Amino acid sequence: MKIDGRTKLVAIFGDPVEHTLSPAIHNPAFDSLGLNLVYAPFHVRPVDLKAAVSSIRALGFAGANITIPHKEKVMRFLDDLDHHAREAGAVNTIVNKKGRLIGYNTDGIGYLLSLREDTGFAVRGKKVIILGAGGASRAIFYAILDAKPGSVVISNRTPKRAEDLAREFGKKFKKTVIWTVPFEKSFLSEEARDADLLINTTSLGMMSQGRLDFPVDHLPEGSVVSDIVYRPLDTELLKRARKRGLKTHDGLSMLVRQGSIGFELWTGKKAPVEAMKKAALKALGPGKAR
Ligand code: ATR
Repeated sequence: MKIDGRTKLVAIFGDPVEHTLSPAIHNPAFDSLGLNLVYAPFHVRPVDLKAAVSSIRALGFAGANITIPHKEKVMRFLDDLDHHAREAGAVNTIVNKKGRLIGYNTDGIGYLLSLREDTGFAVRGKKVIILGAGGASRAIFYAILDAKPGSVVISNRTPKRAEDLAREFGKKFKKTVIWTVPFEKSFLSEEARDADLLINTTSLGMMSQGRLDFPVDHLPEGSVVSDIVYRPLDTELLKRARKRGLKTHDGLSMLVRQGSIGFELWTGKKAPVEAMKKAALKALGPGKAR
């Protein structure tokens, strides 16, 4: 990496930010294309978010990624939003266009692209089960609906969050049948029988979190299982799905793909996706790959 008078910065703002893989993904990618950009993490506390966003303009950063807990609050400090950010109600990527800060949400598109690349899954007309109704679920749910599935079942520990999301998106996407079921094994087993895609957007299965007890055995042959958790990369859910011979899609693919879209927005160049994925695997640590 060469830093000189023309070097521009891309930042990631989060609280905490120490565990982010993004610098390890983006810096080698900038280098490999000979771009004079550096990607750096900043620990930004909520009270400092407004000032941090202003600094993107003041210091002429090329852009930024925004992570937990700032993805929603950051919207009010931006000049414009793309439609995915508006619909998801959250921003994970900012592009500095000559002092105008534009907010994007690349989570949903990154999810869909990586799902298709890893498993060949086409959403149109299919039945999808989504577990979880938080921020990640919202972005993925929207992207899935945009790809015209036949039906979507959403299930969440706190039922109201799933019901609110189902109601809101139901008004927008009238051609897809959307319903909710309790986050209980008996209901999920029933729904699993004719599902084409299962997506875990909850934090269950993540290191030091609880176990996700989804009835994988009830899913039909040919269905696909997708987990946005990437620590560990190979979650118990994905292991059980593969044991059944089902295709799987992991959270690191989504992370890399949403990052690669940001890369392309900041640089105007095609992202070296495979190299970024290798860098992400390396950063995740030894023994984490399958
Ligand atoms: P994110 O932005 O990563 O989606 P979030 O908005 O905090 O984070 O959402 C976390 C999701 O994981 C929610 O669906 C949450 O369920 P609740 O809405 O009931 O909180 C789910 N989740 C977290 N811990 C869980 C647990 N122990 N059991 C079931 N679901 C859990």
